[in-house]
Amino acid sequence: MVHKPILVTGGVGFIGSHVCKCLSGAGFQPISFDNLSVGHSDCALWGPLVVGDIRDRDSVRETLRALKPIAVIHLAGAAYVGESIENPAKYYDINVVGSQRLLEACREAGVDRIVFSSSCATYGAPAQQPIDEATQQDPINPYGRTRLFVEKMITDYARAYGLRYAILRYFNAAGADPDRQLSERHDPETHLIPIALLAAAKRLPFLPILGDDYMTPDGTCVRDFVHVTDLAEAHLTALVQLLDGGTSRAVNLGAGEPTSVREVVSAIRSVTGKEVPIVVKPRRPGDPPMLVADIRAARETLAFAPKYSDIHTIVRTAAVTFGLQVAI
Ligand code: UFG
Repeated sequence: MVHKPILVTGGVGFIGSHVCKCLSGAGFQPISFDNLSVGHSDCALWGPLVVGDIRDRDSVRETLRALKPIAVIHLAGAAYVGESIENPAKYYDINVVGSQRLLEACREAGVDRIVFSSSCATYGAPAQQPIDEATQQDPINPYGRTRLFVEKMITDYARAYGLRYAILRYFNAAGADPDRQLSERHDPETHLIPIALLAAAKRLPFLPILGDDYMTPDGTCVRDFVHVTDLAEAHLTALVQLLDGGTSRAVNLGAGEPTSVREVVSAIRSVTGKEVPIVVKPRRPGDPPMLVADIRAARETLAFAPKYSDIHTIVRTAAVTFGLQVAI
């Protein structure tokens, strides 16, 4: 069987590694292109890893020339909201400059299909929830702005040069491979569920709750957690549609379910039987109070049917990767 090569930038990161597993399962050959700044080389389990940076034109060009991918799934980028506020230069450089270099290299090489990992952060803090794709995109932090600029770049390239794309706007990616081959490993870890699990495992003294005075039902922020394996499946569907001549589109990917920070803590307690010690702290700059996806477009256009994205399954699959026993 001939495996069609797909370039996956950020392919050994948290979402990228799950995408590569899914591509491989469907008969594609994922080629991870990753500078290992946050990715892990031991996650390159389903295809070659090229260690390179999307900002390095020559390295991208050479990879496209040598390995001849038929499409790109572009996940490489910096993705910490807080850091983007303190150091926007890094975000414009990696996310915007890097993406433009990648798009140029693809144009030169004639690679004209791209799946781009965008974010709900491009919407900012809309009053109207759940958020559909027609909601005005008005980001409130540099991270969200950089993702939005890349979306605009891709749509301009599409109009002018015939690029075809799927822009996938993730809500909160979480959980881990149900087969336990992959997990979420960030350093430093800033995401809610891993930090709460570390606190439950007594590897951190407590979970800081970053604000309990939001205008939300329990005062804590509300998010839409979507399992990384469900996200990976959506990348595969979007890719196959583009390869089959499907039209370009931008789609939200969430579970479509609101879950507050305190509800995550409760879910961890019921899944692991362990308490999560908490300390209420001030709000984190750049955090919108509520982000919940309207996923009707994903259901209709990508046949998106999340299998693992209820909060208990998300917590269960993540908890085992932290060595926690799961009670339910
Ligand atoms: N939170 C805590 N304590 C922590 C960490 C997080 O209370 O120690 C809260 C945050 O304040 C937020 C919620 O948990 O309300 C979720 O925070 P995460 O850091 O896990 O995720 P974010 O919602 O900040 O980030 C996610 C993606 C980003 C994306 C962003 C859009 O990881 O890539 O959504 O706002 F940009």
